[in-house]
Amino acid sequence: MTEKELPSYLDQAPEVKDRFDRLKQRPVTMEVKGLNKQFGEVIALKDINLKIHKREFVCVIGPSGCGKSTLIRILAGLEQASSGQVLLNGEAVTEPGPERGMVFQGYTLFPWLTVKKNIMFGLIESGYDKGTAESEAREWINLIGLTKFENSYPHQLSGGMKQRVAIARALANRPKVLLMDEPFGALDAQTRAKMQAYLLEIWKNIDITVFFITHDLDEAVYLADRILVLKANPGEVQEIVEVPVPQPRSPDQFMNPEFLATKQHIEELIHPPSEQEEDDDHLNLVRMVHVNDDVGSVF
Ligand SMILES: Nc1ncnc2c1ncn2[C@@H]1O[C@H](COP(=O)(O)OP(=O)(O)OP(=O)(O)O)[C@@H](O)[C@H]1O
Ligand SMILES: [Mg+2]
Repeated sequence: MTEKELPSYLDQAPEVKDRFDRLKQRPVTMEVKGLNKQFGEVIALKDINLKIHKREFVCVIGPSGCGKSTLIRILAGLEQASSGQVLLNGEAVTEPGPERGMVFQGYTLFPWLTVKKNIMFGLIESGYDKGTAESEAREWINLIGLTKFENSYPHQLSGGMKQRVAIARALANRPKVLLMDEPFGALDAQTRAKMQAYLLEIWKNIDITVFFITHDLDEAVYLADRILVLKANPGEVQEIVEVPVPQPRSPDQFMNPEFLATKQHIEELIHPPSEQEEDDDHLNLVRMVHVNDDVGSVF
């Protein structure tokens, strides 16, 4: 299919439109209101406004340095806004809390603890007694299919397995929101695809709202109900895109016209055509030609 034949990303099939209508009726789980963040002279985030509804899956995409990690750190309560507010179920967020689970890039497991103890850690912190924490941890280990590895240490696991443990550890506290900052960014393509399917499966089955940062357009369109597109310098909302791909998602939708149209639109937002022409990373073919070759017409 050529680009010209693609539908508009704004065209929504009736079932997709219905789903968005229902989604907007759900309670607002997290609200970002007039949020600004400055680091000295750098305006990392400027006037960010967003309402995330219960059980919604929101992806964030944007060029490096546009403030994605700063935003998620503020939502997590790890960083303070310069002005504006983050509300979780109507209450102002000022510090980390058990209602927000976090999975960040790289492996944030404690290397000196086994899989089981990594998952038990947060539960004990939240006041579970050891016996209950252990049985809860076992249930999660079972759910992520790592029963044989409950006594293994992180270094004995593959990258995908480590991120599964990180997700289980974040979910064990039964948070309302899962905050994920490029969680699959360090994984190879195949493992990444498996982790995406795995995350969607979890999301379908438990009451969780997901806020997920990625650099990968396919990943964003595949996972998200809506995509927050940010631009850099200052970090501002460029557009909030409703993904017109029907739910539930499956990998065979990657070539659907609505999938491709959404991807193309976001690609244009992030890399406008004029910017691509000016991009000086391209290979200078003229300079690569040997002087004595018969390519006079090039010069
Ligand atoms: N602690 C800090 N002190 C000073 N400046 C910071 C700090 N954290 C972030 N910044 C600046 O704020 C801007 C946004 O950074 P941030 O890490 O949020 O971007 P990002 O979108 O996550 O980038 P990437 O895609 O590379 O992960 C950048 O200009 C960065 O240099
Ligand atoms: Mg970042």
